[in-house]
Amino acid sequence: MTKDFLIIGNWKLNGTKKHVLSFFKKLDKIKDELSNLKIVIAIPIIYTGFVYKRLINSKNIFLSAQNVDTNIYGAFTGEISIKMLKDLNIKYVILGHSERRFFHKETNEIVSEKFFISYKNKITPIICVGENIEEFKMNKSYEVCLSQIKLIIKKFGIKSLRKVVIAYEPIWSIGTGYCANPNHVIKIIKKIKNYIKKNNYEISNSIIYQYGGSVNHNNIIDFLDNKIINGFLIGNASLKFNSFYKIIKKILGKLK
Ligand code: PGA
Repeated sequence: MTKDFLIIGNWKLNGTKKHVLSFFKKLDKIKDELSNLKIVIAIPIIYTGFVYKRLINSKNIFLSAQNVDTNIYGAFTGEISIKMLKDLNIKYVILGHSERRFFHKETNEIVSEKFFISYKNKITPIICVGENIEEFKMNKSYEVCLSQIKLIIKKFGIKSLRKVVIAYEPIWSIGTGYCANPNHVIKIIKKIKNYIKKNNYEISNSIIYQYGGSVNHNNIIDFLDNKIINGFLIGNASLKFNSFYKIIKKILGKLK
């Protein structure tokens, strides 16, 4: 395996200080087992202050933010800036998650601005793309995903995508228990990959392509026998250490 395999736990609006501390204590105990598997946890931003110090020299466990503002400082009540993320050793930021697109009305334009501020400040963007159920039924998955990436390429150039993470997350599979069919996922990721490849082969190969949507320790096995998917974005199953660790073990079993 040439590229890192990367799994991201997205805790969304869940967890307590106690839960975070106990989760990271357990994670610390397994860090030597991880080999070329990288783990990124997007805990609620308010808790990162309690754990970031122990991750300063970490080689395979990192923190992600679930969002970032487009402004660096100023009168923007309630927002968090990219410099604040850097201050707390946060290496990744989730952008364009369907929940932010839906509940916070984030458009491709806003996502592209957030992308730029992250890229410029060397925080790895995790760009989420995915279609809704109607679009899926109309066979428009690829079209929709591409439209969610194209604006970034148009505004900042293909090279801005170097080493980013692109997570394919069909909206209908997020938090529903309906995990997408692995063949469908592979088909869509392959198409996205080929599109980027046509623009720049090297950039396409540097990107980590993930799947996200109701992944758990049972269904993950169906996604591991291919060279297209380089990781997973995991919501629910990342909240409890035991279920997350079961996923980690399944992946490690395949990476060997
Ligand atoms: P889920 O969430 O694993 O609970 O479906 C995935 C996500 O929203 O990233």
